[in-house]
Formats: sequence, C-alpha cells, structure tokens
Amino acid sequence: MDVNVFKANATPPIADIVVVPFWKGAMKAGALELSKAILADFNGDKGQTLLLYQQEGKEPRILLLGMGDYNKATLEVIRSSFASAAHFCRSKKLKSINVVMPETELFSLNEVTQAVLEGIYLSNYAFLTHKSKPEEEAGKLIQTVNLMGANAKAAQQTAIICEAVHFARDLVNGNADDVTPEFLAQTARTLAKEHKSITAKIFDAKQIAKEGMGLLAVVGRGAAVEPRLIVLQYRGNLRSKDHTVLVGKGVTFDTGGLNIKPATSMEHQRSDMGGAAAVLGTLKAIAELGLKTNVTVVIPSAENSISSRSYKPGDVYHSYSGTTVEIGNTDAEGRLILADALSYAVEELKPTRIIDVATLTGAIIVALGDEVCGMMSNDDELAESLERAGEETYERVWRLPLVEEYRTQLKSERADLKNIGGGGAGSILAALFLQAFVRNVPWAHLDIAGTRYLQENKRYRSKGGTGMGVRLLVQYLREL
Ligand code: BES
Ligand code: ZN
Ligand code: ZN
Repeated sequence: MDVNVFKANATPPIADIVVVPFWKGAMKAGALELSKAILADFNGDKGQTLLLYQQEGKEPRILLLGMGDYNKATLEVIRSSFASAAHFCRSKKLKSINVVMPETELFSLNEVTQAVLEGIYLSNYAFLTHKSKPEEEAGKLIQTVNLMGANAKAAQQTAIICEAVHFARDLVNGNADDVTPEFLAQTARTLAKEHKSITAKIFDAKQIAKEGMGLLAVVGRGAAVEPRLIVLQYRGNLRSKDHTVLVGKGVTFDTGGLNIKPATSMEHQRSDMGGAAAVLGTLKAIAELGLKTNVTVVIPSAENSISSRSYKPGDVYHSYSGTTVEIGNTDAEGRLILADALSYAVEELKPTRIIDVATLTGAIIVALGDEVCGMMSNDDELAESLERAGEETYERVWRLPLVEEYRTQLKSERADLKNIGGGGAGSILAALFLQAFVRNVPWAHLDIAGTRYLQENKRYRSKGGTGMGVRLLVQYLREL
C-alpha cells in the first residue's frame, strides 16, 4: 500500500473516496457542514460510517466516519474507527482513499497520524500465499492512502511497523509444512542479508546437540524436519553496552508429542511459532527504523511431532544450563526449548534484559482471552515499561504474579526439575519453570497463546495470525 502525505490545505490527487472523521455531537466534519437530514441517519458513534454522494460532476464520494465523543477519544478509538473505514472501503473495492486527519487536542499530530494509519494499514491485510492468483487478490486491497495534514515522518515509520506486522502474520499463517525451523532460519538469513546492521548465526541439529542444548534437541527429535537455534543480532548503538535479548518460541507445529493433543486443539497449532514471528517482525522493523539500540533475537525452533523417535514422558533430559528435566508432559514443550534459549542468552549474550514471547499455555486463553496477553516478570521496571507500551499500542499486557509457593510443584524425584505442575495456575507454573533458567537477569515473559490468533477479524486485527507483539516490542524499544 502506498502512503502519501499532503498538507492539510493542499489539493490531493483524486481518489475513489474521501474519508472525513466526525466527532459525535458536532455539526461539522472537517469543512463539511452536516444537514439535519444527514444527522438524523448518522450520529457519529465510533466506527459508524455513512456514504455521501456529492452533486453531479463533483468528485469523489465522501465517507463520513464517526469517532464517538471528542472528550472520550483515545488512540484506540482513532485506530478502530479508521479500521472500520478501511473495511468499508475494502467491501466496496475502493482502491485509493484520501483521508482527512481527525482534529483533536488530546494527542500530538504524530500520535494521531500513527493511529489513523495503523487502523487503515493493519485492516488492509490478506493472506495470499496459497491463492492460485495472488496478484489478482492483492489488487482488491486498498492500494493508495493519501493522508491530508498528517505528519510525514510518523506516517513513514508507521508504514514500516505495519509492514513488519504483516510479515509476522504471513509467517504464522503459512502452512506448517512450509514454515519449518529451517524456513525460519532462512527468513533470518534473508533479514541479515537485507540489513547491514543485522548478522545471523544458525545452529543446526548437530550443533544444537554438540552445544548441549538437550531440551531443544529432544523436542525436535520426533519430527522429519530438524530443529534450529536462530540468533540474529542487530547493532544500532555500537557505543552502548545496553543489550536487549528477545526470545521467541518457534514451535512450527505442536501435536503435543506422545501426550497427543485432542483433534480440535491441534487444528491451529501451526501458530505455535507466533513468538518467533513476533520477534522476527520486531527486528525487521527496528532495523528499518534505524533505532539506536542493540537487540539480539534468539529463536529455538522445532516441530513437536509424533514418531518412534519422539521424546518420552517420564524420561529425563539435560538442558544447556546443566539442569536436568523430567518430562511430565510432552505437550509442555515450549518451556523446554525456551529454557535452552534463555540459558544460551544468559551465558553467551551478556543481556541487560530478556523478554521472551511465547504461545505457551492454553490457561492464558482461559484467563485473558484474545485481547490481552499475560506477563510474568522478575523486574518491576521492565514490567511497567512493557505495560506502558501495551497501553500505547493497545497490545495490552496484564501482569500475573510469580507465586514462589507454587514452585514446589515443579520438583522432580528423578531429576532437578519437572516440566509440569499438579495444581492450577498453569500459566504461572510455565513462567516459574522459565524463571529457573534466567538467573538474576531482568526478564519478562509474554504469554501470547490467546492473542496470537483470531477466528474472525476484530477491528484492525486480522483473522488468523495477528502479528501480536511486534507493535508492543517496537514501542517498548523506541522508548528505551
Ligand atoms: N502450544 C501450546 C499452548 C497453546 C494452546 C497455544 C492453545 C495456543 C493455543 C503449549 O505447548 C501447550 O500445549 N501447553 C500445554 C501445557 C500443559 C501440558 C502443561 C497446555 O497449555 O495445555
Ligand atoms: Zn504443547
Ligand atoms: Zn506449544
């Protein structure tokens, strides 16, 4: 999608439609006086749309867009209202749209520009990889947006971030047979090739075994495809030692292993690499934004499959840190591969802080649904910064406690640790397991099992992979 910015009083190119925002209760939308007849049909509730035709000979059509009450405006109201405008335009197959910026004193023009464009851009996504005529389908999307009176730099940066969200969505939506650990590795190599500031290092199955990453090795052992450990470094500030490590769970398909999942729970498990997609998308965005910060992405990637070579419930395996782990359930594989990745980060990468992103537990879906992701952290400052970034982007995070008393559930008779507990609090137990591998490094764990994927479009969040985590982490890193 082409994004152009024009001065508010400039004459933009003719487009298929002009979107004009309208605050509820006002008489005017931009320069447009609204008649009583119009106001009878349209009260300006957020996201409400009304199509107006101008007099013969005058171009183009106008889409009135309700924004709700002026005083109750939030960036999310702006985002979701413009999402509704974008969905309207898509349903009518309109290819080019001119957009009048909403007037508000509650937010800066930068913020408004970002929210407007996010609402439109993120709603203008379609997964086309498996369509026989992808170009034809792509042609049905909105092709051009002209933003009147927006901030040009904010628009350009927002387009970069939204493209990275689409990139993450594509990775999640791709066939599990295509998006394998090696495919993720290849994606990482491509990012490194495209950006001078990024370098890639990939560990194959042999190197994983040789390094002693026994948990990643065994989780991937039952599959026909080999596991990988992907390490991608972005250096945006060579003078600083500050270094954020982002770890993303990259299970490319989760059958549950020998503790097999029921059929209905398995259907969407190609999205079990949503964490990997989020951190790859984040790295792509920050490299393109040229953020002056240092970030390393670590992705343990494997397919949790079923075969005679699958790892076994009740057996004990060695982690990279030396800690031995008894397998209580082979479906709790995410925490195993993350344990090796976290230990690798702690021991080899000198991290200032670690944030892991993972589709880790079904329990977080029960607790928080598909709008809010769960967070556990050993560091209040890091947790609060992520909460703030979550509010700003509306990729909201809700902190849950690391309840020390529950840790005894992870005790094993046969090994140092067990990968499941007994009582409730499944999401917290998973986080407690991870915490055993981060030592004292400031760390936050984001459980995106609920937010990674949608059954239906919701506002600007797409059906299928949502790209959850990209906007949150980019915002967090921008504010560092
Ligand atoms: N990948 C799943 C978590 C998940 C469930 C993600 C549903 C998305 C949707 C994870 O590997 C898993 O299976 N977790 C188990 C852990 C249990 C065996 C302790 C779970 O949550 O049921
Ligand atoms: Zn699992
Ligand atoms: Zn999983």
